[in-house]
Amino acid sequence: MSRNQQLFEQSQKFIPGGVNSPVRAFKSVGGTPVFFRKGEGAYVWDADDKSYIDYVGSWGPLILGHAHPEVIEAVYAAAKNGLTFGAPTEAELEIAELLCRLVPSIEQVRLVSSGTEAAMSAIRLARGYTGRNRIIKFEGCYHGHDDALLVKAGSGALTFGHPSSAGVPAETASSTVVLDYNDLAGVEQAFNQFGAEIAAVIVEPVAGNMNLIAPRPGFLPGLRELCTRHGSVLIFDEVMTGFRVGLECAQGLYGIKPDLTTLGKVIGGGMPMAAFGGRREIMQCLAPVGAVYQAGTLSGNPVAVAAGLATLKLVQAPGFYDRLTACTRALTEGLVTAARKHGVVFCAQAVGGMFGLYFRETLPESYAEAMSCNRDAFNGFFHAMLEKGVYFAPSAFEAGFVSAAHGDAEISKTLATAEQIFARK
Ligand SMILES: Cc1ncc(COP(=O)(O)O)c(C=O)c1O
Repeated sequence: MSRNQQLFEQSQKFIPGGVNSPVRAFKSVGGTPVFFRKGEGAYVWDADDKSYIDYVGSWGPLILGHAHPEVIEAVYAAAKNGLTFGAPTEAELEIAELLCRLVPSIEQVRLVSSGTEAAMSAIRLARGYTGRNRIIKFEGCYHGHDDALLVKAGSGALTFGHPSSAGVPAETASSTVVLDYNDLAGVEQAFNQFGAEIAAVIVEPVAGNMNLIAPRPGFLPGLRELCTRHGSVLIFDEVMTGFRVGLECAQGLYGIKPDLTTLGKVIGGGMPMAAFGGRREIMQCLAPVGAVYQAGTLSGNPVAVAAGLATLKLVQAPGFYDRLTACTRALTEGLVTAARKHGVVFCAQAVGGMFGLYFRETLPESYAEAMSCNRDAFNGFFHAMLEKGVYFAPSAFEAGFVSAAHGDAEISKTLATAEQIFARK
Protein backbone atom coordinates (compact mmCIF):
# COMPACT_ATOMS: atom_id res chain seq x y z
CA MET A 1 0.00 0.00 0.00
CA SER A 2 1.38 3.42 -0.89
CA ARG A 3 2.17 5.93 1.84
CA ASN A 4 -0.62 8.15 0.41
CA GLN A 5 -3.11 5.33 0.90
CA GLN A 6 -1.86 4.55 4.41
CA LEU A 7 -2.11 8.20 5.41
CA PHE A 8 -5.61 8.50 3.97
CA GLU A 9 -6.80 5.41 5.84
CA GLN A 10 -5.34 6.65 9.12
CA SER A 11 -6.64 10.18 8.60
CA GLN A 12 -10.19 8.94 8.19
CA LYS A 13 -10.03 7.62 11.75
CA PHE A 14 -9.30 11.03 13.22
CA ILE A 15 -10.57 13.59 10.71
CA PRO A 16 -14.05 13.42 9.13
CA GLY A 17 -13.49 12.04 5.64
CA GLY A 18 -9.75 12.27 6.25
CA VAL A 19 -9.58 15.89 5.11
CA ASN A 20 -9.95 19.38 6.52
CA SER A 21 -11.90 20.71 3.51
CA PRO A 22 -14.26 18.49 1.49
CA VAL A 23 -12.99 18.96 -2.08
CA ARG A 24 -9.59 17.55 -1.03
CA ALA A 25 -11.16 14.12 -0.57
CA PHE A 26 -11.31 13.31 -4.34
CA LYS A 27 -15.02 12.43 -3.98
CA SER A 28 -15.76 13.95 -7.36
CA VAL A 29 -13.05 12.04 -9.25
CA GLY A 30 -12.74 8.95 -7.06
CA GLY A 31 -9.51 7.38 -5.78
CA THR A 32 -7.11 8.32 -3.02
CA PRO A 33 -6.25 11.97 -2.39
CA VAL A 34 -2.62 12.91 -2.74
CA PHE A 35 -0.91 13.87 0.53
CA PHE A 36 1.71 16.51 -0.16
CA ARG A 37 4.91 16.92 1.76
CA LYS A 38 6.70 19.65 -0.18
CA GLY A 39 6.27 22.27 -2.87
CA GLU A 40 8.77 24.32 -4.83
CA GLY A 41 7.97 26.61 -7.74
CA ALA A 42 5.52 24.89 -10.09
CA TYR A 43 6.05 21.45 -8.49
CA VAL A 44 4.72 19.48 -5.53
CA TRP A 45 5.92 16.19 -4.06
CA ASP A 46 3.62 13.64 -2.48
CA ALA A 47 4.10 11.36 0.51
CA ASP A 48 5.56 8.69 -1.81
CA ASP A 49 8.04 11.25 -3.17
CA LYS A 50 6.45 11.43 -6.58
CA SER A 51 6.55 14.91 -8.15
CA TYR A 52 3.77 16.67 -10.03
CA ILE A 53 3.37 19.87 -12.01
CA ASP A 54 0.79 21.67 -9.89
CA TYR A 55 -2.16 23.49 -11.48
CA VAL A 56 -4.06 23.89 -8.21
CA GLY A 57 -1.65 26.13 -6.31
CA SER A 58 -3.54 25.57 -3.04
CA TRP A 59 -6.74 26.64 -4.88
CA GLY A 60 -5.40 29.98 -5.99
CA PRO A 61 -3.17 31.72 -3.46
CA LEU A 62 0.18 30.61 -4.89
CA ILE A 63 0.48 33.00 -7.81
CA LEU A 64 4.27 32.98 -7.40
CA GLY A 65 4.46 29.19 -7.10
CA HIS A 66 5.34 27.22 -3.98
CA ALA A 67 7.79 28.50 -1.37
CA HIS A 68 8.90 31.59 -3.27
CA PRO A 69 12.20 32.62 -1.57
CA GLU A 70 11.15 36.26 -1.02
CA VAL A 71 7.84 35.25 0.53
CA ILE A 72 9.48 32.67 2.79
CA GLU A 73 12.12 35.23 3.82
CA ALA A 74 9.42 37.76 4.70
CA VAL A 75 7.58 35.13 6.76
CA TYR A 76 10.75 34.24 8.72
CA ALA A 77 11.55 37.87 9.35
CA ALA A 78 8.03 38.64 10.62
CA ALA A 79 7.81 35.46 12.73
CA LYS A 80 11.07 36.31 14.53
CA ASN A 81 9.42 39.49 15.80
CA GLY A 82 6.42 37.70 17.26
CA LEU A 83 3.56 35.70 15.79
CA THR A 84 0.63 37.85 16.85
CA PHE A 85 -0.12 40.89 18.99
CA GLY A 86 -3.87 41.41 18.76
CA ALA A 87 -3.01 45.09 18.36
CA PRO A 88 -2.38 47.27 15.29
CA THR A 89 0.93 47.06 13.43
CA GLU A 90 2.61 49.28 10.84
CA ALA A 91 2.54 46.46 8.27
CA GLU A 92 -1.28 46.40 8.40
CA LEU A 93 -1.30 50.08 7.47
CA GLU A 94 1.13 49.32 4.63
CA ILE A 95 -1.01 46.56 3.13
CA ALA A 96 -4.23 48.56 3.61
CA GLU A 97 -2.72 51.54 1.73
CA LEU A 98 -1.49 49.22 -0.98
CA LEU A 99 -4.88 47.52 -1.46
CA CYS A 100 -6.61 50.93 -1.62
CA ARG A 101 -4.08 52.09 -4.21
CA LEU A 102 -4.24 48.98 -6.39
CA VAL A 103 -7.95 48.13 -6.35
CA PRO A 104 -9.92 50.91 -8.05
CA SER A 105 -13.07 50.77 -5.87
CA ILE A 106 -11.49 50.28 -2.44
CA GLU A 107 -11.26 53.39 -0.25
CA GLN A 108 -11.06 51.56 3.07
CA VAL A 109 -10.34 47.95 3.84
CA ARG A 110 -10.52 45.55 6.78
CA LEU A 111 -8.36 42.43 7.09
CA VAL A 112 -9.80 39.06 8.13
CA SER A 113 -8.50 35.49 8.09
CA SER A 114 -10.48 33.69 5.38
CA GLY A 115 -12.56 34.33 2.28
CA THR A 116 -15.59 32.96 4.11
CA GLU A 117 -15.17 35.60 6.80
CA ALA A 118 -14.71 38.33 4.19
CA ALA A 119 -17.93 37.45 2.32
CA MET A 120 -19.93 36.92 5.50
CA SER A 121 -18.79 40.29 6.85
CA ALA A 122 -19.47 42.07 3.55
CA ILE A 123 -23.03 40.74 3.58
CA ARG A 124 -23.60 41.86 7.17
CA LEU A 125 -22.16 45.26 6.35
CA ALA A 126 -24.39 45.63 3.28
CA ARG A 127 -27.42 44.73 5.38
CA GLY A 128 -26.41 47.14 8.14
CA TYR A 129 -25.75 49.95 5.66
CA THR A 130 -29.00 49.55 3.72
CA GLY A 131 -31.25 48.40 6.58
CA ARG A 132 -32.52 45.67 4.20
CA ASN A 133 -32.33 41.87 4.45
CA ARG A 134 -32.59 40.20 1.07
CA ILE A 135 -29.52 39.31 -0.94
CA ILE A 136 -29.11 38.05 -4.48
CA LYS A 137 -26.52 35.43 -5.32
CA PHE A 138 -25.99 33.30 -8.42
CA GLU A 139 -26.24 29.55 -8.66
CA GLY A 140 -22.81 27.95 -8.81
CA CYS A 141 -21.00 30.94 -7.32
CA TYR A 142 -19.32 30.06 -4.02
CA HIS A 143 -18.71 32.71 -1.41
CA GLY A 144 -17.53 30.55 1.48
CA HIS A 145 -19.65 28.61 3.94
CA ASP A 146 -21.62 31.30 5.75
CA ASP A 147 -25.26 30.24 6.29
CA ALA A 148 -26.73 33.02 4.13
CA LEU A 149 -24.52 31.99 1.23
CA LEU A 150 -24.82 28.20 1.41
CA VAL A 151 -28.02 28.41 -0.55
CA LYS A 152 -29.13 26.80 -3.78
CA ALA A 153 -31.84 27.87 -6.17
CA GLY A 154 -35.45 26.96 -5.58
CA SER A 155 -37.36 25.11 -8.27
CA GLY A 156 -38.65 28.17 -10.18
CA ALA A 157 -36.46 30.97 -11.48
CA LEU A 158 -37.64 33.42 -8.89
CA THR A 159 -38.25 31.31 -5.84
CA PHE A 160 -36.44 31.85 -2.58
CA GLY A 161 -33.33 29.88 -1.86
CA HIS A 162 -33.15 26.54 -0.09
CA PRO A 163 -30.28 25.54 2.20
CA SER A 164 -27.58 23.64 0.28
CA SER A 165 -26.24 22.19 3.52
CA ALA A 166 -27.83 20.50 6.50
CA GLY A 167 -27.69 22.82 9.49
CA VAL A 168 -28.58 25.98 7.56
CA PRO A 169 -31.96 27.26 8.84
CA ALA A 170 -34.58 27.56 6.09
CA GLU A 171 -35.40 31.08 7.36
CA THR A 172 -31.81 32.17 6.76
CA ALA A 173 -31.76 30.69 3.27
CA SER A 174 -35.09 32.26 2.44
CA SER A 175 -33.59 35.76 2.52
CA THR A 176 -31.28 34.75 -0.31
CA VAL A 177 -32.62 34.92 -3.85
CA VAL A 178 -30.66 32.59 -6.13
CA LEU A 179 -30.53 33.45 -9.83
CA ASP A 180 -28.74 32.21 -12.95
CA TYR A 181 -25.26 33.57 -13.61
CA ASN A 182 -25.11 35.70 -16.76
CA ASP A 183 -28.91 36.10 -16.85
CA LEU A 184 -29.41 39.83 -16.51
CA ALA A 185 -33.12 39.61 -17.34
CA GLY A 186 -33.58 37.38 -14.27
CA VAL A 187 -31.85 39.96 -12.08
CA GLU A 188 -34.02 42.72 -13.53
CA GLN A 189 -37.12 40.71 -12.74
CA ALA A 190 -35.95 40.14 -9.16
CA PHE A 191 -35.33 43.87 -8.73
CA ASN A 192 -38.77 44.65 -10.16
CA GLN A 193 -40.28 42.34 -7.60
CA PHE A 194 -38.24 43.13 -4.47
CA GLY A 195 -36.03 46.11 -5.41
CA ALA A 196 -36.59 48.04 -2.18
CA GLU A 197 -35.78 44.96 -0.05
CA ILE A 198 -32.50 43.96 -1.68
CA ALA A 199 -29.48 44.78 0.48
CA ALA A 200 -26.87 43.37 -1.87
CA VAL A 201 -26.02 41.46 -4.99
CA ILE A 202 -22.93 39.29 -4.49
CA VAL A 203 -21.18 37.88 -7.54
CA GLU A 204 -17.92 36.30 -8.60
CA PRO A 205 -17.01 38.66 -11.49
CA VAL A 206 -15.43 35.64 -13.19
CA ALA A 207 -17.03 32.54 -11.70
CA GLY A 208 -14.39 30.04 -10.61
CA ASN A 209 -16.35 27.61 -8.48
CA MET A 210 -18.39 25.94 -11.23
CA ASN A 211 -15.35 25.42 -13.42
CA LEU A 212 -14.58 28.82 -15.00
CA ILE A 213 -17.45 30.88 -16.38
CA ALA A 214 -16.65 34.28 -17.85
CA PRO A 215 -19.20 37.10 -17.52
CA ARG A 216 -21.17 37.79 -20.71
CA PRO A 217 -20.62 41.32 -22.04
CA GLY A 218 -23.24 43.48 -20.33
CA PHE A 219 -23.78 41.22 -17.30
CA LEU A 220 -21.51 43.04 -14.83
CA PRO A 221 -22.40 46.56 -16.12
CA GLY A 222 -26.08 45.55 -15.86
CA LEU A 223 -25.62 44.49 -12.22
CA ARG A 224 -23.88 47.79 -11.51
CA GLU A 225 -26.72 49.77 -13.06
CA LEU A 226 -29.48 47.86 -11.25
CA CYS A 227 -27.77 48.12 -7.85
CA THR A 228 -27.24 51.87 -8.31
CA ARG A 229 -30.84 52.38 -9.40
CA HIS A 230 -32.28 50.46 -6.45
CA GLY A 231 -29.85 51.58 -3.74
CA SER A 232 -28.45 48.05 -3.27
CA VAL A 233 -24.82 47.24 -2.55
CA LEU A 234 -22.90 45.51 -5.35
CA ILE A 235 -20.36 43.10 -3.89
CA PHE A 236 -17.69 41.63 -6.13
CA ASP A 237 -16.34 38.51 -4.51
CA GLU A 238 -12.77 38.66 -5.75
CA VAL A 239 -11.41 36.11 -3.29
CA MET A 240 -10.36 34.06 -6.30
CA THR A 241 -10.03 36.67 -9.07
CA GLY A 242 -8.28 39.32 -6.95
CA PHE A 243 -4.69 39.74 -8.23
CA ARG A 244 -5.23 36.51 -10.15
CA VAL A 245 -6.70 37.93 -13.37
CA GLY A 246 -4.82 41.24 -13.29
CA LEU A 247 -3.25 43.85 -11.02
CA GLU A 248 -6.54 45.75 -10.73
CA CYS A 249 -8.42 42.47 -10.18
CA ALA A 250 -11.50 41.56 -12.25
CA GLN A 251 -13.07 44.98 -11.63
CA GLY A 252 -10.12 46.61 -13.42
CA LEU A 253 -10.28 44.08 -16.25
CA TYR A 254 -14.00 44.70 -16.88
CA GLY A 255 -14.06 48.37 -15.87
CA ILE A 256 -16.75 48.11 -13.17
CA LYS A 257 -16.63 49.66 -9.71
CA PRO A 258 -18.44 47.54 -7.13
CA ASP A 259 -19.42 49.08 -3.79
CA LEU A 260 -17.68 46.37 -1.79
CA THR A 261 -15.00 43.85 -2.74
CA THR A 262 -13.86 40.72 -0.97
CA LEU A 263 -10.29 39.53 -1.40
CA GLY A 264 -8.42 36.46 -0.16
CA LYS A 265 -6.12 33.77 -1.55
CA VAL A 266 -3.36 35.79 -3.39
CA ILE A 267 -3.36 38.68 -0.89
CA GLY A 268 -2.24 36.28 1.84
CA GLY A 269 0.55 34.78 -0.27
CA GLY A 270 -0.31 31.29 1.07
CA MET A 271 -1.02 32.37 4.66
CA PRO A 272 -4.54 32.69 6.12
CA MET A 273 -5.51 36.24 5.22
CA ALA A 274 -8.42 37.85 3.40
CA ALA A 275 -10.05 41.27 3.32
CA PHE A 276 -13.14 43.22 2.45
CA GLY A 277 -13.22 46.84 1.46
CA GLY A 278 -14.94 49.45 -0.63
CA ARG A 279 -16.65 52.80 -0.45
CA ARG A 280 -15.67 54.80 2.62
CA GLU A 281 -19.29 55.68 3.38
CA ILE A 282 -20.16 51.99 3.66
CA MET A 283 -16.98 50.92 5.45
CA GLN A 284 -17.61 53.62 8.05
CA CYS A 285 -20.63 51.62 9.22
CA LEU A 286 -18.23 49.03 10.71
CA ALA A 287 -17.40 48.91 14.41
CA PRO A 288 -15.72 50.69 16.12
CA VAL A 289 -16.91 53.66 14.00
CA GLY A 290 -20.36 52.33 13.12
CA ALA A 291 -22.94 49.87 14.34
CA VAL A 292 -22.05 46.77 12.26
CA TYR A 293 -19.99 44.43 14.44
CA GLN A 294 -17.09 42.46 13.02
CA ALA A 295 -13.86 41.35 14.72
CA GLY A 296 -11.05 38.74 14.79
CA THR A 297 -8.29 37.71 17.23
CA LEU A 298 -5.89 36.97 14.38
CA SER A 299 -7.15 39.58 11.88
CA GLY A 300 -4.18 41.30 10.24
CA ASN A 301 -1.83 38.66 11.63
CA PRO A 302 1.73 39.98 11.16
CA VAL A 303 3.12 36.82 9.56
CA ALA A 304 0.22 36.59 7.09
CA VAL A 305 0.50 40.31 6.30
CA ALA A 306 4.23 39.88 5.63
CA ALA A 307 3.55 37.02 3.17
CA GLY A 308 0.85 39.12 1.50
CA LEU A 309 3.05 42.20 1.18
CA ALA A 310 5.93 40.19 -0.28
CA THR A 311 3.54 38.61 -2.82
CA LEU A 312 1.85 41.88 -3.75
CA LYS A 313 5.25 43.52 -4.24
CA LEU A 314 6.28 40.88 -6.79
CA VAL A 315 3.03 40.89 -8.78
CA GLN A 316 3.54 44.60 -9.45
CA ALA A 317 6.64 43.88 -11.58
CA PRO A 318 6.13 45.27 -15.11
CA GLY A 319 4.69 42.63 -17.44
CA PHE A 320 3.87 40.19 -14.63
CA TYR A 321 0.24 39.64 -15.67
CA ASP A 322 1.06 39.69 -19.40
CA ARG A 323 3.45 36.79 -18.86
CA LEU A 324 1.05 34.94 -16.57
CA THR A 325 -1.82 35.38 -19.04
CA ALA A 326 0.33 34.27 -22.00
CA CYS A 327 1.49 31.17 -20.12
CA THR A 328 -2.07 30.24 -19.10
CA ARG A 329 -3.29 30.75 -22.69
CA ALA A 330 -0.46 28.59 -24.01
CA LEU A 331 -1.76 25.83 -21.75
CA THR A 332 -5.44 26.14 -22.71
CA GLU A 333 -4.83 26.67 -26.43
CA GLY A 334 -2.36 23.78 -26.52
CA LEU A 335 -4.84 21.47 -24.80
CA VAL A 336 -7.60 22.42 -27.24
CA THR A 337 -5.29 21.78 -30.22
CA ALA A 338 -4.24 18.39 -28.84
CA ALA A 339 -7.85 17.37 -28.12
CA ARG A 340 -9.08 18.43 -31.58
CA LYS A 341 -6.27 16.48 -33.24
CA HIS A 342 -7.58 13.31 -31.62
CA GLY A 343 -11.29 14.04 -31.97
CA VAL A 344 -11.90 14.57 -28.25
CA VAL A 345 -14.90 16.77 -27.41
CA PHE A 346 -13.18 19.43 -25.34
CA CYS A 347 -12.74 23.17 -24.99
CA ALA A 348 -10.90 25.47 -22.60
CA GLN A 349 -10.39 29.12 -21.77
CA ALA A 350 -8.18 31.33 -19.62
CA VAL A 351 -8.72 34.64 -17.86
CA GLY A 352 -5.39 35.96 -16.54
CA GLY A 353 -3.82 33.19 -14.47
CA MET A 354 -6.97 31.08 -14.07
CA PHE A 355 -8.43 28.60 -16.52
CA GLY A 356 -11.32 26.23 -17.19
CA LEU A 357 -11.24 22.84 -18.93
CA TYR A 358 -14.54 21.51 -20.28
CA PHE A 359 -15.35 18.15 -21.81
CA ARG A 360 -18.15 19.61 -23.93
CA GLU A 361 -18.44 21.34 -27.35
CA THR A 362 -18.73 24.95 -26.30
CA LEU A 363 -17.66 27.21 -23.45
CA PRO A 364 -20.32 27.11 -20.72
CA GLU A 365 -22.04 30.37 -19.73
CA SER A 366 -24.19 29.15 -16.85
CA TYR A 367 -24.26 26.65 -14.00
CA ALA A 368 -26.52 24.32 -15.98
CA GLU A 369 -24.12 24.36 -18.94
CA ALA A 370 -21.12 23.79 -16.67
CA MET A 371 -22.91 20.80 -15.13
CA SER A 372 -23.60 19.32 -18.55
CA CYS A 373 -19.96 18.53 -19.32
CA ASN A 374 -18.85 14.92 -19.63
CA ARG A 375 -17.76 14.14 -16.08
CA ASP A 376 -16.53 10.65 -16.88
CA ALA A 377 -14.26 12.04 -19.59
CA PHE A 378 -12.89 14.60 -17.13
CA ASN A 379 -12.34 12.02 -14.41
CA GLY A 380 -10.50 9.72 -16.81
CA PHE A 381 -8.33 12.61 -18.02
CA PHE A 382 -7.66 13.78 -14.44
CA HIS A 383 -6.46 10.36 -13.27
CA ALA A 384 -4.37 9.71 -16.36
CA MET A 385 -2.64 13.09 -15.98
CA LEU A 386 -2.15 12.54 -12.24
CA GLU A 387 -0.55 9.20 -12.95
CA LYS A 388 1.89 10.92 -15.30
CA GLY A 389 2.74 13.65 -12.80
CA VAL A 390 0.37 16.50 -13.66
CA TYR A 391 -1.95 17.64 -10.85
CA PHE A 392 -5.17 19.33 -12.00
CA ALA A 393 -7.99 20.20 -9.60
CA PRO A 394 -9.70 16.97 -8.49
CA SER A 395 -13.12 17.99 -9.80
CA ALA A 396 -14.62 18.84 -13.18
CA PHE A 397 -16.20 21.90 -11.57
CA GLU A 398 -13.20 23.84 -10.30
CA ALA A 399 -11.05 26.42 -12.05
CA GLY A 400 -7.33 25.75 -12.45
CA PHE A 401 -4.40 28.05 -11.72
CA VAL A 402 -1.07 28.80 -13.34
CA SER A 403 1.70 30.53 -11.37
CA ALA A 404 4.60 32.74 -12.35
CA ALA A 405 6.84 29.73 -11.68
CA HIS A 406 5.25 27.82 -14.57
CA GLY A 407 7.14 28.27 -17.81
CA ASP A 408 7.72 26.70 -21.22
CA ALA A 409 9.14 23.49 -19.74
CA GLU A 410 6.05 22.80 -17.60
CA ILE A 411 3.58 23.75 -20.31
CA SER A 412 5.35 21.63 -22.95
CA LYS A 413 5.48 18.62 -20.66
CA THR A 414 1.80 19.04 -19.75
CA LEU A 415 0.76 19.31 -23.40
CA ALA A 416 2.84 16.31 -24.48
CA THR A 417 1.30 14.25 -21.66
CA ALA A 418 -2.23 15.38 -22.51
CA GLU A 419 -1.71 14.56 -26.16
CA GLN A 420 -0.71 10.99 -25.30
CA ILE A 421 -3.86 10.67 -23.20
CA PHE A 422 -6.16 12.19 -25.83
CA ALA A 423 -4.60 9.84 -28.42
CA ARG A 424 -5.72 6.81 -26.38
CA LYS A 425 -9.41 7.71 -26.75
C1 LIG B 1 -14.95 33.30 -4.75
C2 LIG B 1 -14.70 32.72 -3.39
N1 LIG B 1 -15.20 33.34 -2.31
C3 LIG B 1 -15.00 32.88 -1.07
C4 LIG B 1 -14.26 31.74 -0.86
C5 LIG B 1 -14.05 31.23 0.53
O1 LIG B 1 -12.72 31.45 0.91
P1 LIG B 1 -12.05 30.58 2.07
O2 LIG B 1 -11.93 29.19 1.56
O3 LIG B 1 -10.74 31.27 2.30
O4 LIG B 1 -12.95 30.69 3.26
C6 LIG B 1 -13.71 31.06 -1.95
C7 LIG B 1 -12.94 29.82 -1.75
O5 LIG B 1 -12.58 29.13 -2.64
C8 LIG B 1 -13.93 31.57 -3.24
O6 LIG B 1 -13.44 30.96 -4.33
